[in-house]
Amino acid sequence: MALVLEKENTQTLPFVKWAGGKRQLMHELIKNLPKSYNRYFEPFVGGGALFFQIQPQNAYIADINEELINLYLTVKNNPCELIWSIEKHEISEEYFLKIRNLDRLDEYNFLSNTQRASRFIYLNKTCYNGLYRVNSKGHFNVPYGKYKNPTIVDVDNLLNCSKLLKNTQIKCADFSEILTSVKSGDFVYLDPPYMPLSETSNFTSYTKYKFDIEAQIRLKNTCDALNNKGVFFMLSNSDTKIINELYSNYEIKKVLASRAINSNAKNRGKITEVLIRNY
Ligand SMILES: C[S@@+](CC[C@H](N)C(=O)[O-])C[C@H]1O[C@@H](n2cnc3c(N)ncnc32)[C@H](O)[C@@H]1O
Repeated sequence: MALVLEKENTQTLPFVKWAGGKRQLMHELIKNLPKSYNRYFEPFVGGGALFFQIQPQNAYIADINEELINLYLTVKNNPCELIWSIEKHEISEEYFLKIRNLDRLDEYNFLSNTQRASRFIYLNKTCYNGLYRVNSKGHFNVPYGKYKNPTIVDVDNLLNCSKLLKNTQIKCADFSEILTSVKSGDFVYLDPPYMPLSETSNFTSYTKYKFDIEAQIRLKNTCDALNNKGVFFMLSNSDTKIINELYSNYEIKKVLASRAINSNAKNRGKITEVLIRNY
């Protein structure tokens, strides 16, 4: 079990690997933030790359993935218990399959929130590419990653994340729920599952809920409502005809990104994405 213990470590980095994570686009995201704003909102938080980079002191984060949000809440409220639980995991394919299989069993309902969070972080760091994929029954089904000595948790980093999360509201919710909390002058960063580039290229399945074209349209309507409320928003998405048309009333900037998670290695490379803003 690789636990990293360093003295005087002040870093605050995402504690999960997440498909669509924004670390490689960070420079563009930072450059395009509003000059000033009140509170920070991120309703598709995933691994929270921008959130942890900015470290906002008064923030609201949410995601529809219940297991991910349970992990955030556990890091916030029970970091030490979580670390102790993680230390007990073993690195082997046989053990991985045993832990992965738990959500198919009745006993899963009796696991504590900390045990579920510990399982989540273990699977995230030992499965193939850190993907999160579930089948239609909601059962996690990513294969073993075969890493030699994966770092499951960086203890200092996790404790720093826990401190930051103390001032953060965390919710399992559909993105549209932010509308009930935002006020004029707040900033919302939206990083939804992207509109697929083609019908066969929809490679990530974050939850059992699909993010289809209706959801993309619902999101655009939410952006209009944010705009009408005087809220600043910035949205990431793929550079597709539909997205360019949907958001034609807003500022659309093309940014270069390298696609990190693609099951077909040949398709990994630079592509353009869009950054859409109302300011
Ligand atoms: C592209 S990822 C976000 C990545 C994140 N920016 C990062 O740095 O890791 C999209 C996220 O949206 C979440 N999601 C999907 N449908 C949603 C919905 N209807 N409401 C809220 N979150 C949703 C997924 O669970 C996933 O974590």
